[in-house]
Amino acid sequence: MRKVFISPSMMCANFLDLKTDLDVLAGSGVELLHIDIMDGHYVPNFTLGPDYCRALALDGRIPLDIHLMVENVDLFIERFAGFGGGYLSFHPETQYHPQRTLQLIAQSGMHPGIGIAPFHTIEQAKPLLPFVKLACIMTVNPGYAGQKLIPGTMEKISELRDWRKKMGLDFIIEVDGNVSWENIPRMVEAGADALVAGTSSLFKKDEPLGGNIARMRELIARHA
Ligand code: DX5
Ligand code: ZN
Repeated sequence: MRKVFISPSMMCANFLDLKTDLDVLAGSGVELLHIDIMDGHYVPNFTLGPDYCRALALDGRIPLDIHLMVENVDLFIERFAGFGGGYLSFHPETQYHPQRTLQLIAQSGMHPGIGIAPFHTIEQAKPLLPFVKLACIMTVNPGYAGQKLIPGTMEKISELRDWRKKMGLDFIIEVDGNVSWENIPRMVEAGADALVAGTSSLFKKDEPLGGNIARMRELIARHA
């Protein structure tokens, strides 16, 4: 069976009882923590920041998967440098020279990644793929939890998987946005290596986190 990582979206965790959520996530062995960073410019919202990342990095039980949804990425890399050697991704359309940004991220001690927004294509991402360790296909518009999957985005998962194979590249394919019980089977079958789990699955209101993790593992196992 293919290994598929679970990357819980920490903007959906219980801010008033974060330690309890974190203990459940660590105890159940989730592989990554997805942390959305927004600047109110690239996306019209604000969420988490470097101090929050530092606290989770100091806890140290789960590697970070930091998703920058910000402009002027180069200015901010230093603030996220070296957080336990986790992933640091950004959206290439925010940068004049995105490959330089990938180099700066790698030099900072993080694994470089890119986000592919719903109306940016795999074709556009191709020149950068030899330089990334993670490519995050967004199936909703960046900026908010709780949105519906945008038709046409799911197809990009297998397109990216096929291209990776053809070119012999080495990065993980992550899917972010409306990763729901209904959508997980198709996402896994299409080739997702990591799933960002937010309000559509793990952090569904009034459902216990531990039970949802077990349900997600089972669903993945049936389709990987
Ligand atoms: C944005 C976020 C959201 C969200 C995912 O980058 O990562 O996509 O929290 O969870 P859902 O869509 O299930 O609320
Ligand atoms: Zn995200």
